[in-house]
Amino acid sequence: MKKALITGITGQDGSYLAELLLEKGYEVHGLMRRKSKLEFGNVEHIKDKINIIYGDVTDPISVMNAMKTSEADEVYNLAAQSFVGTSWEQPLATAHIDALGVTNVLEAIRTIKPEAKFYQASTSELYGLVQEIPQKETTPFYPRSPYGVAKLYGHWITKNYKESYDMYACSGILFNHESERRGKEFVTRKITDAVTRIKLGLQDKLELGNMESKRDWGHAQDYVRAMWLMLQQEEPDDYVVATGETHKVREFVEKAFSFVNINVEWQGEGVEEIGIDKSTGKIIVSVNPQFFRPAEVDILLGDPTKAETTLGWNREISFDSLVERMVKNDLDKLKG
Ligand code: NAP
Ligand code: GDD
Repeated sequence: MKKALITGITGQDGSYLAELLLEKGYEVHGLMRRKSKLEFGNVEHIKDKINIIYGDVTDPISVMNAMKTSEADEVYNLAAQSFVGTSWEQPLATAHIDALGVTNVLEAIRTIKPEAKFYQASTSELYGLVQEIPQKETTPFYPRSPYGVAKLYGHWITKNYKESYDMYACSGILFNHESERRGKEFVTRKITDAVTRIKLGLQDKLELGNMESKRDWGHAQDYVRAMWLMLQQEEPDDYVVATGETHKVREFVEKAFSFVNINVEWQGEGVEEIGIDKSTGKIIVSVNPQFFRPAEVDILLGDPTKAETTLGWNREISFDSLVERMVKNDLDKLKG
């Protein structure tokens, strides 16, 4: 039986990856931070099937302990302060977790079980101010947030440990992936949550920042398969994981409203832009500059050719079904 250690197991990706590895017969260990109230986040439903180890990636002692306890053959480092917006408010905490935390995990592997395979959760945020479209493994990086900068360190320290110590260490450069388990501060879930509340008369309006921004959105369930595949290869390598499609935030809004039979008509521009419910004339979307970022990533569009040809990875969940699933899930939750 293979053993895996997942940091960030309570998050969106950690939970889907834990499910996938359990299905494949792995013994699954997860590093979890101590909270004032005991709760297991997205792994509540499988908490009895996994072994939770308390720790924090910023605390090297706890990471060493997790490595010793789990005796992991595969380590997936998903722990992060993952919300880009917060990284301007907490740049140092973000750096401690998303940059230095990676070294703590790599050091624990090197010290305790150097033959273990390591996956680092790199990100399309590394491309930031994109230097070419679409972005692929060879596209130069230009991060645009403290989050992106911290992740750039994580990416390069992973490469450095591979080259310095001959470790099986690799990074997945994953483009945005969402799901029913996405945190509500991220734009997709913020939209589907608001759309369903507006539909049920529980909220009047959705306030957003930059709706011109374009993202390559896939479903997290598809993306965790790519993580696992990356650790099943003969040699470690880095891969872009993306859909090859990009959509504006505004399109996501329209699509989400369409699944609750509301047609949105747009009026005005910039901060004056509003979305109106065609059938009632009510304003249901407006712009609030509070959600603008100090520096924006305008467009992300990934080229997944290498992952498709080398790993045999394919996404199964389309953009439309991603939005539909998220809307349906939020509707079901609200209806109880
Ligand atoms: P998420 O839902 O925010 O999950 C992050 C996880 O990290 C949570 O379990 C969180 O635990 C944990 N964590 C935070 N700080 C920690 C610390 N100091 N020590 C230990 N655990 C800590 O993020 P996600 O969407 O699943 O993303 C997973 C990884 O992929 C992240 O590294 C993210 O940056 C990266 N990524 C995500 C995307 C995407 O679109 N989703 C794209 C590219 C890369 P708590 O429950 O205690 O907060
Ligand atoms: N969160 C949020 N809230 N974003 C908004 C809003 C809003 O009200 N209005 C517009 N946006 C825009 C943001 O400015 C950004 O351009 C886009 O919507 C997506 O924002 P997020 O959903 O917060 O995700 P992200 O792209 O910044 O970061 C996510 O994807 C990265 C991979 O590219 C996160 O999951 C990161 O952890 C991940 O690395």
